[in-house]
Amino acid sequence: MSNDKLPILVFGATGQQGGSVVNALLRAQWPVRALVRDPATSKSNTLRNAGVELVRGSFADMDVIRAAMKGTHGVFSVLPGSLAEEEEVCLGCMIADLATETGIEHFVYSSGASAGEKPTGVARFDAKSRIEAYVRSLPVTATIVRPMIFMEMLVRPGFGLEEDRYTFFLKLDQSMQLVAVEDIGKFVAAIFADKKRFGGQTLKIASDTVTGRELEVIFSEAAGRPITYMRFPDELLASNPDLGQLAASLDQGPLAKHVDLNAMREINPEIVSFRSWLAASGCSALYW
Ligand SMILES: NC(=O)c1ccc[n+]([C@@H]2O[C@H](COP(=O)([O-])OP(=O)(O)OC[C@H]3O[C@@H](n4cnc5c(N)ncnc54)[C@H](OP(=O)(O)O)[C@@H]3O)[C@@H](O)[C@H]2O)c1
Repeated sequence: MSNDKLPILVFGATGQQGGSVVNALLRAQWPVRALVRDPATSKSNTLRNAGVELVRGSFADMDVIRAAMKGTHGVFSVLPGSLAEEEEVCLGCMIADLATETGIEHFVYSSGASAGEKPTGVARFDAKSRIEAYVRSLPVTATIVRPMIFMEMLVRPGFGLEEDRYTFFLKLDQSMQLVAVEDIGKFVAAIFADKKRFGGQTLKIASDTVTGRELEVIFSEAAGRPITYMRFPDELLASNPDLGQLAASLDQGPLAKHVDLNAMREINPEIVSFRSWLAASGCSALYW
């Protein structure tokens, strides 16, 4: 790619968010560098064929990461969901430190919509709140994005679709916001395009708002047969702290605080509705 832009280093480029960010950055003519653990996998080959500069390394290789940040305009940091709280905090802070040390122009950290001021007791939420606070304390221009619930999460096995019902956290007329993974990259590319506007900001990102009742209609339309929606039973939410916390966040916590979709559309004019996502990219994720 021949333009005068410096590259952006993307973590997790073979994963959901990083992959989406790579696609959107390439589309916006940014040169992209990606840290990958194994440059020989098919996902790495796809990145290479798309023009991404691959750097072999893992989060354990501080020197490799430091060298990969040299000469970049920006860094997109996202960490895998499999980490324990302390490990996630340690890596998230280390990456932010290295970016600051390197003197990059713009650091974008992907946190989560349940992150906030108060600890929740859920490791993956609290790790993100702690990393956010650390990033804000550093002398680097940073933007923190907090993606709402991924549309991709809704079509994972375990919610009952195979038995013509759909069980989730919402009451019938309660609403929640969703983001399509493909939109995350488009938001991040818009953020890298305008450091002056987005530098220093923390913003939730969303593509659509749906109620339990709307999920019933949308899934029924997509399946071509009636799908009945119901909320997880109270006993289950009470006995499973992880599920209970997510339900509480949707009922009256950070996930209950919605963003203005018109403001989202102004940043990313291509945001997709859940209905259109399910008919297009989401279709392949359905397993019935
Ligand atoms: N809001 C929501 O609904 C929602 C849903 C899911 C996840 N999340 C959050 O999203 C984050 C995960 O993002 P994601 O879903 O994009 O992740 P993902 O698809 O699981 O991808 C993880 C990426 O991290 C890379 N990776 C894993 N371990 C690594 C290591 N030791 N060194 C270097 N790279 C490593 C993987 O590379 P390899 O190809 O080498 O494995 C992959 O590229 C988590 O914070 C999770 O809490 C949010």
